[in-house]
Amino acid sequence: MFSNPITLLLSVMIFISSDLLMASASDGNFYNNFDITFGGDRAKILNGGQQLTLSLDQYSGSGFRSKNEYLFGRIDMQIKFVPENSAGTVTTFYLSSEGPGHDEIDFEFLGNLSGDPYIVHTNVFSQGKGNREQQFHLWFDPTKAFHTYSILWNSQRIIFLVDNIPIRVFHNLESIGVPFPKANP
Ligand SMILES: *[C@@H]1O[C@H](CO)[C@@H](O)[C@H](O)[C@H]1NC(C)=O
Repeated sequence: MFSNPITLLLSVMIFISSDLLMASASDGNFYNNFDITFGGDRAKILNGGQQLTLSLDQYSGSGFRSKNEYLFGRIDMQIKFVPENSAGTVTTFYLSSEGPGHDEIDFEFLGNLSGDPYIVHTNVFSQGKGNREQQFHLWFDPTKAFHTYSILWNSQRIIFLVDNIPIRVFHNLESIGVPFPKANP
């Protein structure tokens, strides 16, 4: 697939193809609980449904989603990111409702050059309105091992956690007129 590394972009892609982004499902099973949504063979389910890898080439990235919809809950995703030169890639783990005025809760991980950190972006959309981005630097190299990235979402607040440490709390402030995502799974 990457036999012709002419440009820097292609050489970045070669690296990604050999190292792959990895995610683990500890309770769930990637076969039973998720569907591959795009990228065809670039998304691979391994180890009887316990692991999934995503890769990217010059044609497409890849992705998957839960088969079920949920209104509130806690989702833990164990992820190991593409190491070294991952500049230009974006890996996201997000909850999103469907249809107009959508709600969304986002973790986005922006790849970077070798030696430069992945920067974590978080965002919350409610009723179609976002602009609530906050960025964080991790205190470890997320490419070396699996770490757990979690979204805890209930009617009162949304908590973003990394290895069980809360990094951001988005409170329900409907009482002062701030829309909060609580109606759409
Ligand atoms: C890459 O790392 C540099 C150096 O810390 C930082 O300034 C930059 O914002 C990072 N780029 C991305 C896309 O996160």
